[in-house]
Amino acid sequence: MRITVVGTGYVGLVTGCCFADLGNVVTCVDVNRKKVQELQKGFIPIYEPGLEEIVKRNRNKRLYFTTDLAKAVQNSDFVFIAVNTPPGKNGEVDITHVQEAAKGIARNLNGYKIIINKSTVPIGMGDIVTQIIQKHRTKKQSFDVVSNPEFLREGSAVTDLFKPERIVIGATSRSAAQKVAEIYKPLHRPILITDLKSAEMIKYASNAFLATKISFINEIANLCDQVGADITQVVKGMSYDSRIGGQFLNAGLGFGGSCFPKDVAGLVQIGKDHQFQFRLLPQVLEINRDQRKHFLKKVHKALGSLKGKTIAVWGLSFKPDTDDMREAPSLTIVPELTAQGAKVKVYDPVAMPQAKLFLKNVKYCKNAYEAAKSADAVLVLTEWHEFIQIDFQKLKKLVRKTVIVDGRNIYDPTQMAEKGFSYYGMGRGKPFVF
Ligand code: UGA
Repeated sequence: MRITVVGTGYVGLVTGCCFADLGNVVTCVDVNRKKVQELQKGFIPIYEPGLEEIVKRNRNKRLYFTTDLAKAVQNSDFVFIAVNTPPGKNGEVDITHVQEAAKGIARNLNGYKIIINKSTVPIGMGDIVTQIIQKHRTKKQSFDVVSNPEFLREGSAVTDLFKPERIVIGATSRSAAQKVAEIYKPLHRPILITDLKSAEMIKYASNAFLATKISFINEIANLCDQVGADITQVVKGMSYDSRIGGQFLNAGLGFGGSCFPKDVAGLVQIGKDHQFQFRLLPQVLEINRDQRKHFLKKVHKALGSLKGKTIAVWGLSFKPDTDDMREAPSLTIVPELTAQGAKVKVYDPVAMPQAKLFLKNVKYCKNAYEAAKSADAVLVLTEWHEFIQIDFQKLKKLVRKTVIVDGRNIYDPTQMAEKGFSYYGMGRGKPFVF
């Protein structure tokens, strides 16, 4: 099939590359000339496992990058919109890029096309895109608008695209929806066809629900801290109930990234726009913000005043397997440590080039051990695999004090105590102090 993907951000790029890998002819379009030139040379601007190989396999065979929207649209039957919808001042969803993309597509229609929206957009956007295209098309070309929300997770986006748990396609025309479903047919995964608005809502409701799970479990973890229970055991016990399940119940520093904070705030705003006041979701966001403060309290509990203390920070990205720093807990925790007079040494396996744009006055280290040298405490902010596999004997010799404050619960408190560390987890019962 001939496909154009407008926008080579995270979603657009992964989607375009994977569609090409499925045998389609894909043109990825972006207004950013420099980015397109880099992509044409095979340079990928994001860190995403598996993506580089896919680009290598398909580039200039079935996968093309261009700034020429007109040509791309004219040569395609399917045009995906995958541009960003950033949050405005009050969390409202900024739909400007989607509107611009729709206008650009409309002006270049040269026959029937299906325009598919992948961006996370307010409910009702499908109708707005339809109106924009009707207004800006040059003749009375026929078209259909479809909503096909994405459920890709950074760090496992390629797997998520090839093995999605569901594919949601919302449309006013059943035949358009079925044509889009054909693209996904080789994946042999469940496909749900709905109306446009329900598809748009499924995306928001899914992200808001997952975010709610995280805030819920973080509150339970905070109570575990007070009463001396272990949240990991609690979750295990809960998860045997198939109505609950065990996923997305890792307590820690709360959710970050470009999606959950933005989408929950966006949904609250969408509610207001429709005279509906969410009561639950503002709390979900507040609990999430407070979780970082809760972590800092633990650091104080472990170290007292931070003035003159050396602190190692392991992990800067908002989650492992990505270099994405958006809404990462490190962005609020690290500046707070330095503001309180601590000397901060940081290490992240891939996110340091990105982190350098935001986190100043810290020492960037070559590895976890260098960061830990002479440290009064090691703080774990991202659960990278290499931190789980750390050599504790080596670590013990390097640090000034054997204190670990684990914001991601990657270690076992009993084992840490056996190894001689004072361990502070998130909701892991009473800390073991030596
Ligand atoms: C999320 C959704 O999981 C995807 O389905 C969705 O497509 C995507 O947003 C989007 O809207 O584009 P992503 O933000 O990449 O994906 O990352 P997740 O793996 O979902 O993690 C989000 C945040 O929640 C991270 O900060 C992570 O550390 C945190 N988290 C996750 C927890 O604190 N506890 C958990 O149990 C799980």
